[in-house]
Amino acid sequence: MSSIKCSAPGKIYLFGEHAVVYGKNAICCAVDLRTTVTATVNDGIIINSLQGETALDHTLYPYVSTVIETIEKFISFPGVKLDIISDIPVGSGIGSSAAVTIATLQAMNLLFKCKMDLETIAHLGHTIETKIQGAASPTDTYVSTMGGIIMIPAKRKLPTLDCKVIIGNTGKFASTKELVSHVSMLRNNHTDILDSILSTIGELSIDGEQFVSKKAYKTIGTLMDINQGLLDAIGVNNQELNSLIYAARNNNAIGSKLTGAGGGGCMFALAESKHVHKIADGITKAGGESIITNFTNEGVRIED
Ligand code: MEV
Repeated sequence: MSSIKCSAPGKIYLFGEHAVVYGKNAICCAVDLRTTVTATVNDGIIINSLQGETALDHTLYPYVSTVIETIEKFISFPGVKLDIISDIPVGSGIGSSAAVTIATLQAMNLLFKCKMDLETIAHLGHTIETKIQGAASPTDTYVSTMGGIIMIPAKRKLPTLDCKVIIGNTGKFASTKELVSHVSMLRNNHTDILDSILSTIGELSIDGEQFVSKKAYKTIGTLMDINQGLLDAIGVNNQELNSLIYAARNNNAIGSKLTGAGGGGCMFALAESKHVHKIADGITKAGGESIITNFTNEGVRIED
């Protein structure tokens, strides 16, 4: 076959971002917003998306270019054309870089018959993210590869949830590196207090696992709201996120919190179907871009 199309999902943290950096538990979930990559055998290298068409280009396409160089170490090939389309907002806590990395790795793996299994794809994806970002948790690439709702660090897959997910994008870029260092600095200055908050966030995930397994949505929502309060306490919330989070709560969200590093980027709410449009409108009126989606059990997959 001279062409393969693969897609990989984005992710949200139900609980536990930042605490996971300190080895605490977190629950991270794949959502049905996907990046799709079509890999076609070609004479040279072409990378194409709405961002533009180039050859290997580490400035415009750092993740995809590094995937190509990684695959070249496994197998020699004449060249490849990669066509990329994505539903995932870029650089906003929904795992867009992990999704493009994993979808490209799997499309090239299958096209050039490299025989990598999913564990290898997830591992290579993490190595690539770390190379580009300096530091990266393996969570995003693992969840994008495997899909589902995953207890971290055990990598245990939990039953999926059937409620709707509404993402609200503040449109404000925030650097994960800076937010992670902010928490680290706060912890250096107030070690006992920060350790206590980070441990409590970890316990929310441990408690949360039981309620996810029982699909006890109301309690999951309550724990999400508590987690949000603790993220505010460690200084990674901001006014824009808060406006969207309260817009969702005021319109019957089951629970709402930021996802990812915070300081901008995205929040999300869980919702019953009957309240989805009201919540999405509330987020839009509060100045955010809303995206309605679902949890997904499917990680990286071949598309027709
Ligand atoms: C960022 O998506 C999540 C953080 O916990 C950082 C990380 O886990 O690498 C803030």
